[in-house]
Amino acid sequence: MKLRVKKARQGLKGIVSVPGDKSISHRAVLWGALAEGRTEIVNFLPSEDCLCTVKACQALGVPIHLLSPSHLVVEGVGLEGLQEPSDVIDAGNSGTTLRLLTGLLAGQEFYAVLTGDASLRRRPMDRVVEPLRAMGASIDGRQGGSRAPLSIRGRRPLRGLSYALPVASAQVKSALLLAGLYAREPVSVTEPLLSRDHSERIFALFGCPLERNGLTVTLRPGRAWKGRPVSVPGDFSSAAFLIAAALLVEGSEVTIAGVGVNPTRTGLLEVIASMGGKVEVNPAAEKEDWEPRADLRISFSPLRGTQVGGPLIPRLIDEIPILAVLALAARGTTVVRDAAELRVKESDRIAVLCQELGRLGGRLTPLPDGLVIEGGSPLKGAATYSHGDHRIAMALAVAGLLAEGETTVDGFQCVATSYPNFVATLQELAPGCAALVEEEATHGGQG
Ligand code: S3P
Repeated sequence: MKLRVKKARQGLKGIVSVPGDKSISHRAVLWGALAEGRTEIVNFLPSEDCLCTVKACQALGVPIHLLSPSHLVVEGVGLEGLQEPSDVIDAGNSGTTLRLLTGLLAGQEFYAVLTGDASLRRRPMDRVVEPLRAMGASIDGRQGGSRAPLSIRGRRPLRGLSYALPVASAQVKSALLLAGLYAREPVSVTEPLLSRDHSERIFALFGCPLERNGLTVTLRPGRAWKGRPVSVPGDFSSAAFLIAAALLVEGSEVTIAGVGVNPTRTGLLEVIASMGGKVEVNPAAEKEDWEPRADLRISFSPLRGTQVGGPLIPRLIDEIPILAVLALAARGTTVVRDAAELRVKESDRIAVLCQELGRLGGRLTPLPDGLVIEGGSPLKGAATYSHGDHRIAMALAVAGLLAEGETTVDGFQCVATSYPNFVATLQELAPGCAALVEEEATHGGQG
């Protein structure tokens, strides 16, 4: 599937919402599966990634009913109730599914095999496998257990762990905490920088708060919880593409309602402010304490280049592809550092951004841990490719709104990973600018 995008000649206008948050939807299903009794989830994200978590839980014997695509009921089986799956579990493109499940399965007394698509099978798993082995789980896989497929024979009880993560990662932190549910002693995880804290928040929502001391979070044994309703806020990472489009297309005025604004996720808002962008954050009238949400009002703004690094990086790691597009339209140079993790996301986002935005005339230079983006070069429509990476696909679509002439993005179907109705919302805000076409990929079957 290919997206054709034309330069937007008029400002984007409208009030829209974005689908439920991907990270929180995964967790709502998993924590609901481990609860005793029923968890009803509203505004669940029915994307390919989150549906992989649903199918995985079903394969582990958890009944899950879809009342509508975004409304689920999980009949939790409790911490002791998971069953050995009868087949390999496929996490598709989803790192969150694979890594969190590896942690959970480390504490089960049965055998399971986890795999994923070609992109996920290239991504590093040793970061979760090594500490889980130290807790006593038997895990094997390709390249010494550092690449999926992973085969897991869990153990109960596991040993406790006190572990310093080499890289800030919510997926690894969450995997170790889930394994900690089956450990004899406490599990403490210390991060070099704070990553998204959705797992900590959902433990608290289900009545099992963890202990936090600076960058260390500790789970003590003896946890169990009951099912409860969970309402998922809109995904800030999906909203980021619309925020950028509205900031960049002259005359735009867009409101995005009900977006999750958990501070561990909204680093991009701080960067936009430092670039001179106007985004008004109006906390939602109906207060949801466990995950804050707000309506965002965005107006076209001329931007200037900026420097991004350090503790901001984990708070905007998924937004760097769209930040690169903002930087291309800004006056001056933007430098992103401390973001080597970009190289092991759904694609090598540093290399791919430089290559694909370069086709539009953007001037980007890769660094080992980031990129330098020269703003202000005029962009010209071109044929580009998503590399099977949803966030690259959407960043290219937004860049296409700025480029003279027509831009195409091959392999656009991958947006179903996180934002299945992205094109429909873009068409609503910028009528006539974007159309999906069923065409043979001209970039020849990669990804
Ligand atoms: C996620 C954590 C982040 C993020 C990913 C979702 C999560 O990955 O990039 O899209 O739901 O925990 P890392 O934990 O690898 O940083």
